[in-house]
Amino acid sequence: MKFSGGVAAVTGGGSGIGEALCLALADKGMKVAVMDVDTERANAVAERINTRGYQVDVTDRKSLEIQAAQVEDDLGPINLLCANAGVVMPFGSAIDRKDADWQYVMSVNLFGAIHTVDAFVGQLRSNAGNAHVLVTSSMGGLVVGGHIPLGPYTVSKYACVGYCEELKAAFADEQIGVSMLVPGVVATEIMHNSSETRPVELGRQAPPRRERDYVSPRLATMAVTPVQAAESALAGIHNGRFYIPTHLHDAARLDAHYQAIVTEMRGQGHEAGLDG
Ligand SMILES: NC(=O)c1ccc[n+]([C@@H]2O[C@H](COP(=O)([O-])OP(=O)(O)OC[C@H]3O[C@@H](n4cnc5c(N)ncnc54)[C@H](O)[C@@H]3O)[C@@H](O)[C@H]2O)c1
Repeated sequence: MKFSGGVAAVTGGGSGIGEALCLALADKGMKVAVMDVDTERANAVAERINTRGYQVDVTDRKSLEIQAAQVEDDLGPINLLCANAGVVMPFGSAIDRKDADWQYVMSVNLFGAIHTVDAFVGQLRSNAGNAHVLVTSSMGGLVVGGHIPLGPYTVSKYACVGYCEELKAAFADEQIGVSMLVPGVVATEIMHNSSETRPVELGRQAPPRRERDYVSPRLATMAVTPVQAAESALAGIHNGRFYIPTHLHDAARLDAHYQAIVTEMRGQGHEAGLDG
C-alpha cells in the first residue's frame, strides 16, 4: 500500500510500539489518528505530529464505532489500520489464574483487535486497493516456552494469531492487505501501563517491581527499541509480508518449533475414509 497522502489509525498509539508507529507513519506523510484508552498519552503523541488524539477503549465496541466515525469526519476514510493496543500481566503460568486475569488480557488482546477491525472495516473497504490492516500479536502467540512463562497472555496472543489468519483469508478477494506484527521483546512500559489501565472492576494488578519490568538484565539485552519495531512493521507492510517479526533470530526459533511438531506427529493417526 501507499503510505504517503493516506490516513492511518493506530490503537495503543499513546505509548511504545504504537507511539513509534504513529511517528513513523506521520513521517511517511500519512495523517494519523492516535487512539488510546489513556487520553493524555494519546494527546501527547498527537501533538508531536500535529494531529489529535482519540480516547477509545478497544474492549468496548461502541466506543470504537463512535471514534471511528469521528476519525472519518476529521481525516477521511482510513487506508491503514494498526490494531496494536495490548496489555500483559505479571509473568507466571496459566494455572490458577483468576477469571478476571483471563478476562483482562482476552478482552484487550483478542476482542480489542476484533472490535477495532469491525469498527473500521467500512472505511477500509471504501479504500480497497490501497487499504491494509496491521494487527500486533506477539512471538508469544506463535511459540510457547520462550524466556519466561506468560500464561494467559500467551493464550490471548495465540488467539489473536488465529484471528489474523482468518482475517487474511477473509480479505483475500477484497484487495485489503493484512499483516501481523509478531514482536519479540521490545523495550516499552507495557508492564507498568497494563497495571495502570486495568479496569477497577477486574481487581488490582500488581505494578511492576521496577519501573521498567523488562525485569532481568538478560531480557533487556534481548530487547529492540519501539522505533526498530515500527521500522520492521512498515518495511513488512511495504514488502507485502504477512508475518512481520522484530528480531532476526525469530524465524530460526519458529523453524525449530514447527519441525518438532511435524516430527512428533509423523506416523500417528488413521487413514481417513468413512467406509473404513
Ligand atoms: N513490548 C513487548 O515486548 C511486546 C512484545 C510482543 C508484543 N507486544 C505487543 O505490542 C503491542 C503494543 O505494546 P507496547 O509494548 O508498545 O505497550 P505499551 O504499554 O507501551 O503501549 C500499549 C498502549 O495500549 C494502550 N491500551 C491498553 N489497553 C487499551 C484499551 N483497552 N483500549 C485502548 N488502548 C489501550 C495503553 O494505554 C498503551 O498506551 C501490544 O499488543 C503488545 O501485546 C509487545
